[in-house]
Amino acid sequence: MTNSDFAGSKLTSLLSEPVKVSWQSPSNIALVKYWGKTGRQMPVNPSLSMTLSKAYTESILTAFPRAADGLVDLDFWFEGQQNAAFGERMSKYLQSVTDIFPWLGQVSLKLETRNTFPHSAGIASSASAFSALALCLCTLDAEFFGILLDESEFRFKASYAARLGSGSACRSVFPGFSVWGLSKSLPGSSDFIAVPVPDVHPVFKTLHDTILIVNKKEKFVSSSEGHNRMIGHPFADARIKQAGKNTTDLLEAIKSGNKQNFIQIVESEAFTLHALMMTSEEGFMLMHPETVRIITRIQQLRKETGLQICFTLDAGPNIHLLYFEDQIEQVKKLIVEELLKNNEQNMLIDDLYGNGPVKVA
Ligand code: DP6
Repeated sequence: MTNSDFAGSKLTSLLSEPVKVSWQSPSNIALVKYWGKTGRQMPVNPSLSMTLSKAYTESILTAFPRAADGLVDLDFWFEGQQNAAFGERMSKYLQSVTDIFPWLGQVSLKLETRNTFPHSAGIASSASAFSALALCLCTLDAEFFGILLDESEFRFKASYAARLGSGSACRSVFPGFSVWGLSKSLPGSSDFIAVPVPDVHPVFKTLHDTILIVNKKEKFVSSSEGHNRMIGHPFADARIKQAGKNTTDLLEAIKSGNKQNFIQIVESEAFTLHALMMTSEEGFMLMHPETVRIITRIQQLRKETGLQICFTLDAGPNIHLLYFEDQIEQVKKLIVEELLKNNEQNMLIDDLYGNGPVKVA
């Protein structure tokens, strides 16, 4: 039976018992930034990210049989508690993908999620949350229909579904580095799905990301609102061109193991993202004074010590410090002695290159 055959039929006749599936899916850090979207969650430029290892969402999705009415019925739990605001976003998402998963209007769903990273750390959780949910949906889909997708078809379908929840989530379904958005340098790349970066020099598999928490508060301009502000942005055309070139150059650096080019592109992307925010029609700034102090110090320390360290920023004030395994001891010392010095909250999250989502059940 195919999905379209199924659209008009009754799942309840096939599903007599609740079915439970579960995935752990990580967050990712963008190195070339997705900033600006169009249509149904299509990016205006290609982006390239590294999937993390320790910061992940675990989701358990259970489908119960019920009479079909075409509407999504979701009971949402976040870290053991019902969460109306997040549940609402998840319900809206599920309703919006009933064209892909028509059975969503024919079951009752219970979604239980938890994050390994603190909720209040100012870390965006939408990439891990939506990728975990999309993977659960694709697993349920396969179980209901007995569809035997091969591993890569399964991941592409999950990436497609995750994108519709949150753009950056489509990159989290793959291990290591992935690209979302059409890039002339990567055959098979697409605006609809992310694809894994095929050629990665071993040194880039030893990349670490320590997130230095400058402020835990939720940011006052959401990513979605930030994307909106790229519409009609005076630098939009130049930015789209630059992101294309940076994707090409970063792919080359990752392939050849060129750390110096990697550092230059990654920092330029972080500055560009925040410059685009500041120069949008209704400009805004998400960096804090402490963000500026730390990134300035990282650049100075790189010069003074010769260590291969660099930073990137998300749409927020916290700093992702990137470095390689072989310099971990020296960098950890600098973090304590130099970088977290005036950081009142004195909080960090250690993460690294990850191997992608894991199916739990
Ligand atoms: C700055 O993926 O959170 O982190 O698609 O509206 O959910 P929506 O936005 P989101 O935007 C991420 C923006 C970014 C850059 C990136 O991850 O590429």
